[in-house]
Amino acid sequence: MKTQYFLYTPIQQSLKRGQDNLHKWFETGARILDLYDYPLKKLAKNIGKLSSLLISGKFGNYMEKNELLSAYFAFFFPQGYYRTFFVLEEILRLTNFEPEDNMIINDLGTGPGASIFAAYDIFKDYNPVITGIEKSKNALELAKNIAEKQRIKLNLFHGDFNKFELKGEIAILSSALSEQKNSLKIVEKIMESHRLLILIEPGWREGYEIIMKISDILKLHPILPCQGNVCKIRGKDWCHAALPFTLPDLTVRVNSLLSHKLKYIKFTYGVFSSKVSLKTKAPRIISPKIREKGKEIFIVCDGGEVYKIEKLKKQSIPDFDYASCCDLISFEGEIKGNAVRLKSMRLLK
Ligand SMILES: C[S@@+](CC[C@H](N)C(=O)[O-])C[C@H]1O[C@@H](n2cnc3c(N)ncnc32)[C@H](O)[C@@H]1O
Repeated sequence: MKTQYFLYTPIQQSLKRGQDNLHKWFETGARILDLYDYPLKKLAKNIGKLSSLLISGKFGNYMEKNELLSAYFAFFFPQGYYRTFFVLEEILRLTNFEPEDNMIINDLGTGPGASIFAAYDIFKDYNPVITGIEKSKNALELAKNIAEKQRIKLNLFHGDFNKFELKGEIAILSSALSEQKNSLKIVEKIMESHRLLILIEPGWREGYEIIMKISDILKLHPILPCQGNVCKIRGKDWCHAALPFTLPDLTVRVNSLLSHKLKYIKFTYGVFSSKVSLKTKAPRIISPKIREKGKEIFIVCDGGEVYKIEKLKKQSIPDFDYASCCDLISFEGEIKGNAVRLKSMRLLK
C-alpha cells in the first residue's frame, strides 16, 4: 500500500510532520498578507525579482518592500521552515543532544519567522525561550502577527543582531550568513556563547562554500551532515540536501508560473558543536535518486569519501526503492567501474 511506504523512512516521516506543522503558520501569514486574493502572475514576477536580488548579493533591506515580503513569504517561507525543521529533527535523531526545559534558542535574521516557528514546533513541550532578531520592521511585524494569531509567546526584537549580546543552547542562522560582511566574527562570537550552532544556506555552491570556509578557518567541529569528516568533494563539487517536500497549494500554483521550477527543497547546512556528539556514524545518501538505463543510482558520502551506489532495475532491494537524499544506510556490494553494485542495502532508522 502506497501510503504505508510514504512513511517508511525517517526522512519521509519528517517530511510529513513538517508539512502538517507548516500548514498553520503558512495559512495565518498568507491571510495576513492577503495572498489568496493576490494576482498570481504578479506574485510570480515578484518572486523572480526577489530571487535575482538574493543571487546578486545586493541585499539592501528588501523585506521592507511589501511586494518583496509577500513574494518571500509565498515562496521562501515554506522552504525556510522545513530546512530548520529538518535540521532540528536530525539533531534529535542522530546526536546525543538532550533538550532541556526553558532552553534558549536564538534565531539571527529571523525574517517572517520560518525558523522560530519550526523551532517552536519541535521543542514546544520543553517551553523553550525562543528569540528572533530581525532588522526589517516589516518582516518582524509579520512574524509577530503570526505568533499572536497562533497565541504563542516569542521574544521578537527589531535591530541588527550584531548589537545584541546573546547566550543560549542553540543559535540558528538560516539564509542570513551570506548577507553579512563580518560572518567570521559573528560565528566566532556565537560559538563562544552557544552549545550548538546551525548554519543553513541555499543549496548552491556559494552557500556550501561559505559554510565550509567558516568551518575551516575557525576550526569548528562539524557534527552534521559531515559526521566529523573532511569533505573530499570540496573544490570539485558541492554538497546539498535535496528533499521532495510538498509545498502549500498557493506555493505550488505560483511555482508552476516560474521559469525555474522548484522540484526539491535544496539547502546546504552545517551543525557545529564541541559539546554534542553523534550517536551513529554511517554512509549518507547525498543525492536524489538518479535513473539511468537499466539501473538506479544514489551518490553516497562515506567518511568524507564520495561515490555511487547502484541497483539494477531488475534487482529487488526495498530499502533502496524507498530511500531518499539524507538517509543513513548500511550496504554490501562489489565495485563495478566507478560505482558499488549493491547486493543488499538497509536504511538506518
Ligand atoms: C534570506 S532572509 C532569511 C529569513 C529567515 N531566516 C528564513 O530562513 O526564512 C535573511 C533575513 O536576515 C535579515 N538580516 C540580515 N542581516 C541582518 C542583521 N545583521 N541583523 C538582523 N537581521 C538581519 C534580513 O533582513 C532578512 O530578513
